[in-house]
Amino acid sequence: KITPVLMAGGSGTRLWPVSRKSFPKQFTALLGDESLFQASARRLCGLDHAGLMVMTNADFRFIVAEQLEQIGLGPAAVMIEPVSRNTAPAILAAALAVADHDPERLLLVAPSDHLLSDPGAFTRMVEKGAKLARAGRIVLFGIPPDRPETGYGYLELAGAGEDPQALRRFLEKPAPEQAARMCADGRHLWNSGIFLFRAKDMIEAFRIHAPEYLLPVQASLDHAQTDLGFLRLAYAPWEGMAAQSIDCAIMEKARNLSVLRLEGHWADLGGWDAVWRETLRLAPDDDAVAADSNSTAIDCRNVLLRSDDEIQVVGIGLQDMMVVATGDAVLVAGMDRAQDVRRAVAVLRAEN
Ligand code: GDD
Ligand code: MG
Repeated sequence: KITPVLMAGGSGTRLWPVSRKSFPKQFTALLGDESLFQASARRLCGLDHAGLMVMTNADFRFIVAEQLEQIGLGPAAVMIEPVSRNTAPAILAAALAVADHDPERLLLVAPSDHLLSDPGAFTRMVEKGAKLARAGRIVLFGIPPDRPETGYGYLELAGAGEDPQALRRFLEKPAPEQAARMCADGRHLWNSGIFLFRAKDMIEAFRIHAPEYLLPVQASLDHAQTDLGFLRLAYAPWEGMAAQSIDCAIMEKARNLSVLRLEGHWADLGGWDAVWRETLRLAPDDDAVAADSNSTAIDCRNVLLRSDDEIQVVGIGLQDMMVVATGDAVLVAGMDRAQDVRRAVAVLRAEN
């Protein structure tokens, strides 16, 4: 059996103003009725699993519990990070907690901001990956790139042959020129952010590549407290750690990585350009305009118009732009600047 670990502690700043500090993107229904978090939880619980684990922070714990309850998957083991230190310490905490009673146990770590079109194919891939993981590999799931996205990690394949493959190199969030080259050469896949490994192998990888995390994470676990059914990690050791993603801390360095190709359509709804693209996939439009029911586009091309609070939005003669309105904020930006929305949030936080 596998322990699925759902990562749900990100603040989703690139989807401001809909995604807010207190209610980030993964909990909102960006497309369809279910939140991305709920869809991800459902997908993971479709596997033969040993109980879902959710890593999140104190602000989101009741949202997590309520959203799992809504789809009949609660209560789950929810671990609370006292402050956000990105995915590296969170994944190590999950591995250490599980290894405490079963070091051989497989963990399937998955983000909560994804769309996956083919849950059946996902389950088959995980079963395939489980064999590799039981042999000591850290298994990644890759997607053939179709544009030079700079917000993702890139997996360089050792050869052009069949799955599974050893990974030659992992490169997180490349510069635009690098991304363009990797997208075109047919030897790279995008990293989906889904990882499969034995608990003890991830701990070993930290021992080799990021040993500074071992003591503080273990101390946070040792002094963790149960609080209203949540396991709250101890503050002081956690707070003292540097924030780092698992991609930079481990994946760019580890030598025992294998990759499997994910079939079907995959998307990270990380920014408004992705929401625009996915909306058009569901509802194609000749002018590539995605406008919701509160919005009207006149003579526009390549435009996202969205209004979440009944504010009327009208765009006239716009090109390559996104306009996202909520009750107290409006974002207007070039479509190619979707990754920079997080900079706006940083500026606003500094000012307030
Ligand atoms: N528990 C917890 N704690 N979860 C977190 C934290 C944290 O401090 N920070 C982020 N997360 C969660 C997010 O909610 C999301 O589900 C997932 O971890 C990944 O974080 P993102 O911030 O969305 O990462 P990214 O999209 O920039 O990059 C990652 O995903 C890409 C594909 O979607 C990387 O793994 C890339 O290599 C990958 O291509
Ligand atoms: Mg993401």
